Amino acid sequence: MQVETRLAALREDIEAWSRQFAGYPCNLNFDYTELLPFMRYCMNNVGDPFHDSNFRTNSHEIEREVVALFARMMRLDADKAWGYVTSGGTEGNMYGLYMGRELFPNGVVYFSQDAHYSIPKILRVLNMRNIMIRSQDDGEIDYEDLYETIRIHRDVPVIFMANIGSTMTGAVDDIGKVRAILRDLAVTNSYMHADAALSGMILPFVDDPQPYGFDAGFDSVAISGHKLVGSPLPCGVAVTKREYAAAVARSIEYVGALDTTLSGSRNALTPLILWYAFERRGMDGFRAIVAEMLAVAAYAVERFNSRGIPAWRHKNSVTVVIPRPPPEAIYKWMLAPQDRIAHIITMPQVTRELVDEIVDDCAA
Ligand SMILES: Cc1ncc(COP(=O)(O)O)c(C=O)c1O
Repeated sequence: MQVETRLAALREDIEAWSRQFAGYPCNLNFDYTELLPFMRYCMNNVGDPFHDSNFRTNSHEIEREVVALFARMMRLDADKAWGYVTSGGTEGNMYGLYMGRELFPNGVVYFSQDAHYSIPKILRVLNMRNIMIRSQDDGEIDYEDLYETIRIHRDVPVIFMANIGSTMTGAVDDIGKVRAILRDLAVTNSYMHADAALSGMILPFVDDPQPYGFDAGFDSVAISGHKLVGSPLPCGVAVTKREYAAAVARSIEYVGALDTTLSGSRNALTPLILWYAFERRGMDGFRAIVAEMLAVAAYAVERFNSRGIPAWRHKNSVTVVIPRPPPEAIYKWMLAPQDRIAHIITMPQVTRELVDEIVDDCAA
């Protein structure tokens, strides 16, 4: 088959599926054509974005602006922040847990049953001692189990992995309660990494957010770029405190850079994409997008319920949880099932009209 034919066929397929994209938290409403000229260069953000690099065709300056922006959203002064644009949520989580391990090599990682599948994998890769904590039925961590488990391991530092928007139900662990547990048990050595893949882009834009951010206890956070911001290339942002990052830095002569990132060669286009999205939409633009997504999520719950389907969602969540629907509906709408549940996520392309169609198919 000719190249043109192959490309046309693939594009048609992607285009068709993009119209039924309701189960994964990716904002498909974007237009980055203004950035296409950059596809003609070999750009690479190898090394620390806050230091020089011999690889001059980079977008480090823009990457630093993206890190500063996400740091401020996570309530950390930009001049106290360090971070970089990652390949996605998994790399950001690995970076955060790696940082926790470097600071507390004998720490135990506590994470909930509802943590993303990347977490147990990362803990295997990093060979970190860890304990899985029970979740409540709605996906939030079980605080009693957390309390009891930490209580019997009081001799070792706590590395807590907070779900700030769990994958299946959008649950946000109450980090105020977690800090109270640590206080109660007189734990002095602790580190908190937040997996805020999706909700890290929701909570800064709502009026009454659950506790989040560095002022509430985060030591590092991973936020996805291809989820709510929207990006044709998977990406994310990892942010931590500058003082911590210095602890893991190694200087590499070959690239004339400081080796603080997990990957060596890094995407230089994704920082541009994230920067461009915020430049064009502004914070107010994202606030409006989030408000509309939440309104559509409320509409979806109401529509499902009116058809006898017990849909629900957490506060400030665009993840609408439903009992596992028929396989045809799962396939057609690219829904993400797990055991007895599935969810639709009301990203901007999931309009009220689309919700009506999905509800019809799930009720069938
Ligand atoms: C809560 C959460 N964390 C982490 C990830 C991993 O993100 P990525 O697939 O970008 O590595 C996801 C992906 O869905 C997620 O939902």
